[in-house]
Order: sequence, then structure tokens, then C-alpha cells
Amino acid sequence: MRLLILGTGAMANTHATAFGGIDGVRLAGCVDIDRTRAEAFAARHGIDLVFDTLTDALSSGGFDAIANVTPDALHFRTSMEAMAAGLHVFCEKPLAVTHGDARHMTEAAAQAGLINGVNLTYRNVAALQRAREIIGQGEIGEVRHFEASYLQSWLTQPAWGDWATEEKWLWRLSSKHGSTGVLGDVGVHIFDFATYAIGSDIRTITAHLKTFPKAPGDRIGEYDLDANDSMLMTAELGSGASGVIHASRFATGHLNDLHLQVFGTHGGLEITNRGDLGSIRICSGAERETATWRDLPLSPVVTNYQRFAEAVRTGRPMKPDFATATRLQAVIDAAFEAHRVIPRTEIAS
Ligand SMILES: NC(=O)c1ccc[n+]([C@@H]2O[C@H](COP(=O)([O-])OP(=O)(O)OC[C@H]3O[C@@H](n4cnc5c(N)ncnc54)[C@H](O)[C@@H]3O)[C@@H](O)[C@H]2O)c1
Repeated sequence: MRLLILGTGAMANTHATAFGGIDGVRLAGCVDIDRTRAEAFAARHGIDLVFDTLTDALSSGGFDAIANVTPDALHFRTSMEAMAAGLHVFCEKPLAVTHGDARHMTEAAAQAGLINGVNLTYRNVAALQRAREIIGQGEIGEVRHFEASYLQSWLTQPAWGDWATEEKWLWRLSSKHGSTGVLGDVGVHIFDFATYAIGSDIRTITAHLKTFPKAPGDRIGEYDLDANDSMLMTAELGSGASGVIHASRFATGHLNDLHLQVFGTHGGLEITNRGDLGSIRICSGAERETATWRDLPLSPVVTNYQRFAEAVRTGRPMKPDFATATRLQAVIDAAFEAHRVIPRTEIAS
């Protein structure tokens, strides 16, 4: 597979390292509107061809697939352009800015018969795959209740850089730049983490979104800081299980932590993304009477990057695909709607 990497910012380095380590994949070219960044990226990853626009790259020919690692607002237009040129697409999350656009992308990929994948990164975490197996085999009984969180703190400390001056953080805070806030940035990951583990999609929700003051006039340069920073949700799944899901960029003390607890009629399960494989523990059988939890061993799992390369090689579809991401996108649209229509109840003084 001759792979074109579109966008050469922070996350593109993870793509280049992962795809570059897969037999049969050649990092054939890269594109960025920032030429200096693209040239440094090409030198770092041994890429020969550098382009200023996707259109130039496509008209040069010579590519089988793209890894779309542009900011969220660009995913729709650029993936559609690449698919129109016959390229398979591995797109970053969220697939689009709206559910409607995500649906168009899914339909276009199906009509063209192209491999399509979405980088729901935490599918690569062994603990998540193990949790899905355990729950699917009925080991904790019927799932009744769950609690899921995605906690980051890049708005309260500088471990990943200065959010107030760096473009890669500022576009995430501005809806006019295509951000759907914490919902699209990390919400999709935790929606997938919970629903993939439990094996049932979200059917109904309530949601509360919050944008906190961060700069004078809620603006820095061209960026209006209006995207949500925290979201709180209750969700009922198709299976009837219900739970709470929340995410924040203000979770001081957490850099990048996903946490899921699932409670079934015969046992409980808890997973995190921490460590190379994540962690998983279970409380089942007689352990329920003493609330004793047992850590389970884990082995590495196939990654999304490997699944995409294999899908292109064999012509067989992969998961998670555009259809998977489109279902998650529907949850984002529903969260905005739920936040808008559900009245708040004042507490009596
Ligand atoms: N799956 C994950 O775990 C994960 C983690 C981080 C980021 N992401 C996603 O990856 C994407 C990129 O995020 P990032 O952190 O690398 O952002 P970034 O801002 O660091 O990089 C984006 C790059 O795209 C370039 N770009 C902008 N418009 C372009 C265009 N028209 N053509 C070509 N290049 C263009 C920018 O110049 C920049 O270099 C986002 O969609 C983000 O949500 C996913």
C-alpha cells in the first residue's frame, strides 16, 4: 500500500510510526498547508514526496490510500476528495463535524467500494477487547448499569504545550474552526469505549455541556473560545443498560485517562487505558459477597493501523469503519440538542 499522509501535525507522527512499521506499507507522500512542517515531517519519517495541497498530491497519482490526520473541520471535504480519486481512507475521529456529513461519507465509501476506517484509538487497548469478550460471553450476566469517563487536563497545566498560544489546541476550542468541543475531541472515544465493551449502542441520552471562561472576551486572535470544555451525559443503551458518561479538559490530576465500570447481574468489570495494554479487573461469582476484585492478565491486540493495512491488502472491510463513526456522530448531534431542549431545575433556596 502506497500511503499518503494528509496533515503532518501532532497525531500524524503516531500514524507515520505505526504505518511505517507494517510490512507492505510504504509512506509514499505527505501533504500540509504548512510546507516547513511537512518537510520536517517527511525528513523525520523518510518520506520522499511533499505536497502543499491534497489536489496536487492526487493529481500526481501513485497513492492507494490516505491517512487523514487534518483538523476535524477538514475531514469531510478532504476524505470525499480522496475517495472521488479512488483512494481508500483511514480517517481520524470525529469522522465529521455533523451526523449528516458523516452519513454522506459512509454512503460515498460504500458506493465507491472503498475500504474505510476510523481511528478510534482505544480499540487498540487490550483491556477494551478483553472486556468485550468477557461481557459478550455473559460472564458478568446482563449489564444493568455503567459509568464511563474520559479525563484530560490540558486546560489547567502545560504538559502538552501552551493551549493559549498553540494553534493545535486553539482550533479545538473554537466551533467556527469545526470543533464540537470535548464531545468530538474525546467524547467519541468514551462513547465507543463504553458501547464497544458492552456490545450495545446508545439509544437515548440527556446531556449538559459547559464552556468555561478562559480568556478576556472568550477570544484569542481569530479563535472564539466557545466550544464545550466539559460534558455530562446519562445514556440508555439498546440493551436497556443505563449509565453516566462524562468528559472534561479540566480534570486536573489526569493527563489522558479513560475509565469504565460495568455492572452486571452476576459480576462487575472495570477497565482503564493505563499502561501499554490498559488494565482490567473483575468481581464475579463468590467474590461479589466480599466485593473482592481480581486483576486479569492481558496480551497485545491488533491495532486499527494494522486492520486498515490488512483491509486494503485483502479488499475485506475493517472495523471500526465510517458507519461505526457515523453512529457516534449521531450521539454528538443528539447531545447538542439534548443540552438545548432539556430544562434545568433550580434548587429552592
Ligand atoms: N485518535 C486519537 O487518539 C487522536 C489523537 C489526537 C488527535 N486526533 C485527531 O487527529 C486530527 C489531527 O489532530 P492533531 O492533534 O494532529 O492536530 P494538529 O493541529 O497538530 O495537526 C493538523 C495538521 O493539519 C494541517 N492542515 C490543516 N489544514 C490542512 C489541509 N487543508 N491540508 C493539509 N493539511 C492541513 C495543519 O497545518 C496541521 O499540521 C484531529 O482530527 C484530531 O481530532 C486523534
